[in-house]
Amino acid sequence: MHRLEGKVARGIGFETAKLFAAEGAFVFVTGRRQEELDSAVATIGPSAKGVRGDIANLSDLDRLFAEIETDKGRIDILFANAGLGEFAPLGSISEAHFDKTFGVNVKGTLFTVQKALPLMSRGSSIVLNASVAAIKGFPAFSVYGATKAAIRSFARGWTVDLNDRQIRVNVVSPGTVPTPAYDSRLGLTKEQMARFIEAQSVAAPLGRVGRPIEIAEAVLFLASDQSSFVNAPNSLSTEALRRFDRLRSVRMAAIDFFHGSNFRSSRPPLVSSMISARAVPSTI
Ligand SMILES: NC(=O)c1ccc[n+]([C@@H]2O[C@H](COP(=O)([O-])OP(=O)(O)OC[C@H]3O[C@@H](n4cnc5c(N)ncnc54)[C@H](OP(=O)(O)O)[C@@H]3O)[C@@H](O)[C@H]2O)c1
Repeated sequence: MHRLEGKVARGIGFETAKLFAAEGAFVFVTGRRQEELDSAVATIGPSAKGVRGDIANLSDLDRLFAEIETDKGRIDILFANAGLGEFAPLGSISEAHFDKTFGVNVKGTLFTVQKALPLMSRGSSIVLNASVAAIKGFPAFSVYGATKAAIRSFARGWTVDLNDRQIRVNVVSPGTVPTPAYDSRLGLTKEQMARFIEAQSVAAPLGRVGRPIEIAEAVLFLASDQSSFVNAPNSLSTEALRRFDRLRSVRMAAIDFFHGSNFRSSRPPLVSSMISARAVPSTI
């Protein structure tokens, strides 16, 4: 039986929104497909609202945040999760591939955060979704990896920019987590995907790939007051790497915030397709 069979449900953003709602938050979710949004909101329940939009389109972002402001007046947690990746080896990288990948992952994430800021109060939390591809080379995936490295870099700079407002910025960098992205965006057949997952599982410390809920739990930690002294990834040090490796052997997800958590009073990251305006500030 393929390792994916019966396992791939929805993406990381959806699982995080569902978890946040279960923990007492009111969540706004965004994405370009209305049908998917409706279905996500129906599953999450009355503590969720969908606002359709493309994060690479600045007027869509304006509309999204205007709606959140009208409904709730503020955002306590921003998870900038939306992102995409497609294969293109060096030699076959087109301008369109570059523009699309950087347009969503880098420009979209930047303006999602920037446009959310006026609604974010002192002490709120931002979590960004990068990827292990930010620090590791994968075949035909260099443009994607570069966008995710940019996200980790954003977090370092934004932590400093937001220091006076005590807004934490952190980043999760998942390893392989089978989601709908694998068939819809990577264009793999079921057999190719099964082989890819098998290979990634063998290479992983736990001998398996991750599940979206495992990333969602890390995002929840970074978004909550439990991580109040965790702020932004820092430069890697021997100690940080040692800790990181130990953690990685316990859990599949590669989580950047552990790199820097001992060195600075910075803050955590976002999952891009989901924005949460917390209804009960102390619950999450
Ligand atoms: N799965 C993994 O192994 C893995 C590993 C490392 C990092 N990540 C990162 O995790 C994030 C989520 O990935 P996933 O695997 O959960 O993928 P997914 O299932 O395809 O979910 C991606 C979500 O982002 C939304 N989205 C994409 N482009 C958008 C845009 N321009 N504007 C608004 N929404 C947009 C999609 O909705 P619409 O299509 O309806 O717009 C979808 O809901 C991504 O940033 C990805 O790079 C994933």
